[in-house]
Amino acid sequence: MKSETDSEDGARFDSVNPHWARFLDEAGLDMTGARGDGCYIETADGRALLDCLAGFGTANLGHAHASLLARFADALQRTSVNVFPFECADSQRLLADKLLALSGWRFQKVFFATTGAEAVESAVKFAMTSTGRPDVITFRDAFHGLSMFSSFMTGNPFWTEALPWKPGNVHHVDAHNFAALEDMLASRKVAAVVFEPVAGSSSAQHWNVETSARLAALCRATGTKLIADEVYCGLGRTGNWFGIDAIGMSDTSAAPDMVVVSKGLTGGLVPLSAVLLNDADFDAVFGAPGKAKVHGSTFGGNRLAMHCGLIVLDLVESGRLVDNAAAMGALIEARLATRFNGRVIVRGKGLALSLELDVWFAGELNKSMSDVWLDLIDGGVLAMPNSAAPDSLRLSPPLIFGVDEVEVLIDRLDEALQP
Ligand SMILES: Cc1ncc(COP(=O)(O)O)c(C=O)c1O
Repeated sequence: MKSETDSEDGARFDSVNPHWARFLDEAGLDMTGARGDGCYIETADGRALLDCLAGFGTANLGHAHASLLARFADALQRTSVNVFPFECADSQRLLADKLLALSGWRFQKVFFATTGAEAVESAVKFAMTSTGRPDVITFRDAFHGLSMFSSFMTGNPFWTEALPWKPGNVHHVDAHNFAALEDMLASRKVAAVVFEPVAGSSSAQHWNVETSARLAALCRATGTKLIADEVYCGLGRTGNWFGIDAIGMSDTSAAPDMVVVSKGLTGGLVPLSAVLLNDADFDAVFGAPGKAKVHGSTFGGNRLAMHCGLIVLDLVESGRLVDNAAAMGALIEARLATRFNGRVIVRGKGLALSLELDVWFAGELNKSMSDVWLDLIDGGVLAMPNSAAPDSLRLSPPLIFGVDEVEVLIDRLDEALQP
C-alpha cells in the first residue's frame, strides 16, 4: 500500500484534498495517469476497469471517442474566445434550437450556464421572479448541487450541517407525500417544486405516469412552477432524450415548466448546463431592454462549450445512442434477473440504474454494498455507492455500452457476490 496521499509518481495531494485522495487510493481508485478508451479505463498500474460510472453520467460517448476528439480539436482551432460575457454567439442559437427541437418544442427558450448547480439555481430564479413567491420545495434525499443555495435544496443534511446559516425558504418533503405537498402549496407562497424524474444519488428512485401527472396537476392548480432537474438523467441516459419522457410526462398538460440539463451535454470535456423554459418565465427575468443581462455568468454559453454540445448531441443522435441506452438497460435488467433470480434488485431507467441486494440475500452473504463495491473494483468494474443510499450501487455507464460490456458486468458482479 502506498503511503497516505502519495500517488503513483510520488506526488502528494496535501494542497488539494488529502483525505479524499487517501480514500480513493485505499479503494483502488487512484486515477493518476489513467487513460480511457471506449468503455474502459486503464490505470497507471496496468489494471483495466470497465467504466460503469462515466464520470457520473458525463462521458456519454465513453473515453477517447475518436470523432468527438477530432471534431472538438477542430472547434478549438476555429473558435475564438468570447468577446464579452453574455454575448450572443451563433453557436448559442444553434445549440439552443437543437435542445428545443429535441424537446419537441415544448419549450421556447434556453438559458445556458456552466454547472448543474448554477442552472438549477437559475431555474429557481426564473420561478421566483415569474411568480413573485419566495419558497422552494424539493424532495428528501434528492441531489441538486453544492453551491450555497443548491446545497440546501439537496435534501440531505449531510451536505449542510457544518454551515452556520440556513435559508428559511427551502422546504423538503418525502417523495410522493402528496398530502404534505398539498398543504404547502395551498399557502400560495411556493415559487417552485424541483424534482428529479429519475434520481441519481438516491438509488434511482423515479416518478411514474400517475405520480408525475399528479405532481404537475397540483403545481398547475396552485400556480407553482414545476422544475425537472435532469442534470443527471437528461439527454439520453434514461433511453429517452429527456427523463420526463422516460417517466411518461410526455403529455403537454403534465409537462414541467422548466427542464435543467447538464452532465451528458458535452461528453465530459467541458462544463455546460442549460435551462429549457417557456417565453413567459424567461421574460419575467430578461423581458425588458434594461434587464437583458440581469442574470448570467462569465463562462455561461461560451463558444467552445456550445460547439462541444453541438458535436456531442450530433454524435449521440447519429449513433442512435439513446435507443442503445434503452436496449442495454433492458438487457442488464434481463441478465440480472436470469443470473441472480431476485437476489439483486435493479431500479431506474435505461442506463440510469441502481442495484440493491435483496435483504435476505445480503444477510446470507454477510457483505455490505460497500464490500461488493470494493470487490467489483478488484474484479475490474468501476461503479459507486449512491451518496444518499449507500446500500445501493450507482450504474451510469457510457451510452455506447454494448452486449459484451453487459456480460463482463454480470460476470464480475457474480464474482463479487460470492461469500
Ligand atoms: C440531479 C443533479 N442536479 C444537480 C447536480 C449538480 O451539478 P453540478 O455538480 O454540475 O453542480 C447534480 C450533480 O451530481 C445532479 O446529479
